[in-house]
Amino acid sequence: MSLVRVQNFSVSLDGFATGEGQTLQAPFGHAGERLHDWMFATRWGRAMLGRTGGSGGVDDAFARQFADGIGAEIMGAGKFGPPGWQDDPEWKGPWGSNPPFHTPVFVLTHRPRPSVEREGGTTFHFLDASPAEALATAREAAGGRDVRLGGGPTMLRDFLAAGLVDHLHVVVVPLVLGRGVRLWDGLEALERDYDVESTSSPGGVTHVTFTRRAV
Ligand SMILES: NC(=O)c1ccc[n+]([C@@H]2O[C@H](COP(=O)([O-])OP(=O)(O)OC[C@H]3O[C@@H](n4cnc5c(N)ncnc54)[C@H](OP(=O)(O)O)[C@@H]3O)[C@@H](O)[C@H]2O)c1
Repeated sequence: MSLVRVQNFSVSLDGFATGEGQTLQAPFGHAGERLHDWMFATRWGRAMLGRTGGSGGVDDAFARQFADGIGAEIMGAGKFGPPGWQDDPEWKGPWGSNPPFHTPVFVLTHRPRPSVEREGGTTFHFLDASPAEALATAREAAGGRDVRLGGGPTMLRDFLAAGLVDHLHVVVVPLVLGRGVRLWDGLEALERDYDVESTSSPGGVTHVTFTRRAV
């Protein structure tokens, strides 16, 4: 059975995965880019931006697991665009003509629209469905490979609460955001169902992996 995985999901020390005030210019609101500075300092992250250089250590080893074995992604409407994107029939996401997914991507929204095909193998499909239904659809599209949950925190919380996540890679970034959207609310004792490991990186972040216990 293919796995349901979360990779490179970054939260502040106080558990926020995005800041307040999301706009087109500031997709993470007042958090700016600070939640992902660690990732774009790596070799893999810089290559994603079309640049060379970057670190090749612990952070890079984690970051580059993003696409390994992934056949589809599910994301929330809040990741696909700033508040109100549903009112713009031309909106195709903030990633340009060649988004970094290269698989089918299922966008959860209460206002679905026709699919959008982009360069490089990414096609966005829009679903108004429960987490379990969306996962069944994505699994079929993934053709036996794993399904990545791309966030944001609201959709990810729903999938975690429904017990649908096999592998969760959270990166704890040493900053205090104070406001925004939290990941952990309502997920008391989540760790009970997982083997949990933490790896501190010399870059200053902590990689926490939750791997579902074998039954
Ligand atoms: N820290 C990280 O690593 C990371 C990763 C990814 C994204 N982000 C950030 O997270 C933010 C977005 O997160 P968010 O929590 O605000 O929103 P989100 O989780 O991306 O999306 C939530 C929205 O998706 C739609 N939705 C969710 N479940 C649905 C379902 N079952 N059926 C139909 N529609 C459903 C609803 O939108 P509608 O009702 O409007 O349709 C809901 O309000 C952005 O700032 C993004 O940049 C951070």
